[in-house]
Amino acid sequence: MKINRKNFLKVAGLATAGVMVDNNGAARGITTPSAQRTQQFNMHGFAAPKLDKVRVGIVGVGERGSGTVVRLASIQGVEIKALCDVVPHRVESSASLLKKEFSGHSPQSYSDNPQSWKQVCERADIDLIYIATPWNLHARIAVYAMEQGKHVYTELPVGSTVEECWKVVTTSEKTRKHCFMGCGSCHDGMAAVVLNMVRKGYFGDLVHGEGHYIHDRVSNNEQRWVRDKDNNNWYGYRPWRLQENVNRNGNLYPAHGLGPVAQIMDLNYGDKMDYMVSISSGDFTMKHKMAEISQTDEYFKPYVGLDFRGNMNTTIIRTHRGRTIMLQHDISSPRPGHRFDLISGNKAIYRARPDRLATSHDGWLPQEEFDRLVEEYTPGITRKFAEKRDEARVNNRSRGYERVTASDWRLIDCLRNGLPLEMDVYDAALWSVITPLSEWSVANQGATIKIPDFTAGSWQTNKSGMDIDIKQGGTTKLVS
Ligand SMILES: NC(=O)c1ccc[n+]([C@@H]2O[C@H](COP(=O)([O-])OP(=O)(O)OC[C@H]3O[C@@H](n4cnc5c(N)ncnc54)[C@H](O)[C@@H]3O)[C@@H](O)[C@H]2O)c1
Repeated sequence: MKINRKNFLKVAGLATAGVMVDNNGAARGITTPSAQRTQQFNMHGFAAPKLDKVRVGIVGVGERGSGTVVRLASIQGVEIKALCDVVPHRVESSASLLKKEFSGHSPQSYSDNPQSWKQVCERADIDLIYIATPWNLHARIAVYAMEQGKHVYTELPVGSTVEECWKVVTTSEKTRKHCFMGCGSCHDGMAAVVLNMVRKGYFGDLVHGEGHYIHDRVSNNEQRWVRDKDNNNWYGYRPWRLQENVNRNGNLYPAHGLGPVAQIMDLNYGDKMDYMVSISSGDFTMKHKMAEISQTDEYFKPYVGLDFRGNMNTTIIRTHRGRTIMLQHDISSPRPGHRFDLISGNKAIYRARPDRLATSHDGWLPQEEFDRLVEEYTPGITRKFAEKRDEARVNNRSRGYERVTASDWRLIDCLRNGLPLEMDVYDAALWSVITPLSEWSVANQGATIKIPDFTAGSWQTNKSGMDIDIKQGGTTKLVS
């Protein structure tokens, strides 16, 4: 499918989302949802009744989901009740690992058909549905799960269109069920340190932030292209994910880089995104790779000659308070990876890889001074999680996805203690909606588009996000 304005609006879900464009198709890009809607209930700061045990149904046990099974089973008070995937042997493999390495879990398997996740959502003895399927199912499963009275933990994104993002917001408000989008990079490492420094005034007024998803998946490592028995290939490019890169052009995966910047800038609680522009380069790698590997593997022949997204997408957002955010997405150029990257204020700057701080034009602070500041500003959440990890002696698993993160631990801790979550449905929707809006802007030569205010004005009175000092909770242990 070639992108033209009509089918683009359909794909991105903008046609019915209150987006107006001018007559010749160049964007004026005015969205009016916050003016048109009133919030049914404010989910920011919402605390659901505490759960002694968090009973979990897992939908999608592929690369990421099978790791999450282990991460969640490593947290006190979690019971995995159901495993669902359309590929039965993936369910069996996760079930047998749970049986072998953990106690207290006897999950039921669901792999009869592509709708089996509905049965999982309908079970009365489940509190939380975790979603790690292809992107196009996330919103559908999340909405259905909340309607069945379940909290949701979804992999990114929560929705692929503007409409889907609104739907999860309104459903969460209506049902008063949490919808949490996993973005581990927000809770740990330098993102947490910088958040603490910002809150304590080290950076002064924030001016600019940068966060990217730069992760080369087209390098010459041929192993990445060898398909397994399920036709999966090239880690991270399952067949569905390769398909997502055809006929779409924009920032397809903004949340890993954006999440920390958004929390540091108090977006949805003190500031809000106002408008954005997005431009993509051409494709200089994907088409060549498809032509090359189709010579040795017929499977890739249908991909030869298709329109792939541009290699580099750059999106720039301006917030209501006048800050700017630059996001880049490039998963097909040979270069080192990059995510949370830069915070700049009128008193200091942080830059990643290598991590550095500066307070003037004259250069970066010496390493000893940097180390001293990191020690001083490492927040309670990071220290508490490290303490729990050391107590339980977990996190020595070789597979990264199986190593429990501060984000998972704190999610379960908040649910068990009846606390508001560190990220809510408004964060999930805002960080996800950048994708369809960037596609729209790219398709319109980088034109400006307004960004919906999913809080419907509550950002002006909402209190800050993450409880970085763990003033409440922090009682959940890890189990080995
Ligand atoms: N947070 C992170 O660091 C991180 C890392 C990797 C992937 N992810 C995210 O995790 C999600 C899954 O990615 P992945 O790499 O594991 O992909 P994957 O293809 O390995 O896994 C997806 C699984 O969903 C299953 N599935 C498809 N349709 C289904 C249906 N109707 N019902 C039940 N199961 C179904 C597939 O069979 C597969 O096992 C994506 O959203 C991805 O962006 C996040």
